[in-house]
Amino acid sequence: MVYCTSRTGGKTHREPIGMPWRYSLRCFNCHTEYSPRETRYHCEKCGGLLEAKFQLPRLKRPPWKDRSIGVWKYRELLPIDTEQHIVTLNEGGTGLHRCQRLGKELGLKRLYVKNEGENPTCSFKDRGMTVAVSKARELGKKKLVCASTGNTAASLSAYCARAGLDCFVLVPKGKVAEGKMLQVLIHGARIFQAEGDFDAAMDSVVQLTNKRRAFYLMNSINPFRLEGQKTLAYEICDQLDGKAPDALVLPVGNGGNISAIWKGFGEFQEIGLVRNRPRMLGIQAEHAAPIVRAVKTKSDKVRAVKNPRTVATAIRIGSPVNSTKVLRAIEESDGSAETVSDSLILEAQRTLARLEGIFVEPASAAAIAGLSKLREQGMIDPSDLVVCVTTGHGLKDPSIVARLPRSESYTLKITEPDWTGHLERL
Ligand code: F0G
Repeated sequence: MVYCTSRTGGKTHREPIGMPWRYSLRCFNCHTEYSPRETRYHCEKCGGLLEAKFQLPRLKRPPWKDRSIGVWKYRELLPIDTEQHIVTLNEGGTGLHRCQRLGKELGLKRLYVKNEGENPTCSFKDRGMTVAVSKARELGKKKLVCASTGNTAASLSAYCARAGLDCFVLVPKGKVAEGKMLQVLIHGARIFQAEGDFDAAMDSVVQLTNKRRAFYLMNSINPFRLEGQKTLAYEICDQLDGKAPDALVLPVGNGGNISAIWKGFGEFQEIGLVRNRPRMLGIQAEHAAPIVRAVKTKSDKVRAVKNPRTVATAIRIGSPVNSTKVLRAIEESDGSAETVSDSLILEAQRTLARLEGIFVEPASAAAIAGLSKLREQGMIDPSDLVVCVTTGHGLKDPSIVARLPRSESYTLKITEPDWTGHLERL
């Protein structure tokens, strides 16, 4: 049984997970509706992406007001009908850290980092997986599969282990960070390595799951995964005491996260819990930037980038599967997209660690590098309330740190009576 804790009158209560509000599965393009019990990733009529559409009431005081923070706090807005199928490792509830030292460096008075590396498998993917794996159980699925640049696989393998389901992951050979591969290994998933890049692996799992219905697809075109990821927006509004930021900056790969978060802000606004929504500012690495190209050329089609390259392996993606959702999120929010070079990414990774004590992987550092560039371009005002989402922990990709310039270290003879002399010379 899964419980949420809540606090009323100074006392802590545990209450069981209740029912979601009414929802259906709907085509993002043509609005054709489907039953959420169908196994479906695209619209039968137009091929569009799907989304869960909730019937939202207007409320001043939502039922989750006194519950403690985390994904399942918002269970009325999550598409899981049967409480006993919920698979959780305590996702979400990550810190929203005020960053005054970094803010000063970037000329921002109100800068926050929402640090998703604090999730159970150390990335934002856990928000999506707790919901999608729970849904998989509800639908009676036994074999779950994904293509991944690493984090999706690390997360899926953990939740499958917890649920006792079979996990199959397909990763681009030799291009996944070491820490992520170790996570997949220890959780006991079956690993397949694809020749070629992530986009080829993604194509392959889509074909597999369309042909063999026993395999359930857990990438971000699974609409239930994005439902978990939208809770990041809810948490930010709650952590800012009922306010949404002016701008949200985050890395973009397949574009699932930016779309999910935009949906989350929209739902809180529809319920009446926040007045504004942020501008969504998506960051990509300069040689893996199909979304940025489409945004800058004002195109409504995203052309794939062949052989994408970047040190930020998590977002080394040339053909984003959620591109229609991303473009709409950026357009509706009056947002934008920007590229950053690998050297700026690595510099930002070090700056964030040294100024704020937050160690993130390169894809996440891309958001910080992008924020710095957008500030220089005047796209963000010094007085704006800005939240930067850091999506994964730095220890997932330790080899990258070896490429950074080394700070001085000292070798001591253990017999040296007084090593403080070294300190004085610093
Ligand atoms: N940041 C990190 C650390 C990621 O792992 C990913 C995606 C993203 C950002 C981009 O998110 O795809 O929703 O736009 N990683 C996927 C994976 C592709 O397989 O782990 P997105």
